[in-house]
Amino acid sequence: MPRILVDDFSKFVTALASSSPHGWHVVATNDGPPTDIITWHNEYGVCPSHPHYVVFFCEKPPPSGEETPGTSSLAVYDRLKKECPELLEQSAKKVYTYKFHHTAVQTRGLVGGNGVFSPTAFGPVDESLPVEQQRKFTGGLDITHRVTGIRMHPTRNVPSYFNAMANRWAYANKYNTWEPPYTASKEDGTEQTFWPPMFSGMEEDKVIPKEWMDKAGEIQNEFVSTVAWEAGNVMVIDNFAVQHARLPWEGHRTVLASFWDEPGLRGVPMNW
Ligand SMILES: [Fe+2]
Repeated sequence: MPRILVDDFSKFVTALASSSPHGWHVVATNDGPPTDIITWHNEYGVCPSHPHYVVFFCEKPPPSGEETPGTSSLAVYDRLKKECPELLEQSAKKVYTYKFHHTAVQTRGLVGGNGVFSPTAFGPVDESLPVEQQRKFTGGLDITHRVTGIRMHPTRNVPSYFNAMANRWAYANKYNTWEPPYTASKEDGTEQTFWPPMFSGMEEDKVIPKEWMDKAGEIQNEFVSTVAWEAGNVMVIDNFAVQHARLPWEGHRTVLASFWDEPGLRGVPMNW
């Protein structure tokens, strides 16, 4: 694709989306520290609502030449069916649990600080009320998402390993938090909770066996292909068919994203 600029990118995704208003929006990709791990996920796989297509645009590639990897959700499902069917069966029956701790201090670019505590997160603050009746947050907020991890691809009608559980797996491995209380000391000395992959339970959530997640990670890494960025490049991802990730990089980079849907398409949860 010929090299284009940001305005051209906005016009491009708008044209792709045709009547869909989602195409107007172009946002920065996750601004978390470039050293942070962001491994395999379908965009918004932790939520019941997610885009059908993810479009990335490279405004400025990193000097270190970091590439963006993708892996096939469909091929991963097929291989897991042969090599770890118990993971798929339990995933379909129990769905996944993602716990998030939203910090009281706004932290840009991190899932745990994405605006829950901004002054207008739940509408304008009514300053006419007495101070004691105004909404105030003094601590953190724990939120649990319970979301299916296997969906039917809406046009191919085949199952897709559609989730963001690999990140939980990567951090539980990095900080060895597979056992309660799931806390570890970070490099800066602070204590933090890193919840491992979990199935949702009626009475309590259960940690997914590490060997099952190791197998999934092994297969995800086996199907990897990477794309090297040049300024002006555009990548269009079928979010129901492809998981993407982010590799650490050095220096400054700007990659923008646009998420959009096609009316009528929905990846319904797969029943086992
Ligand atoms: Fe993403």
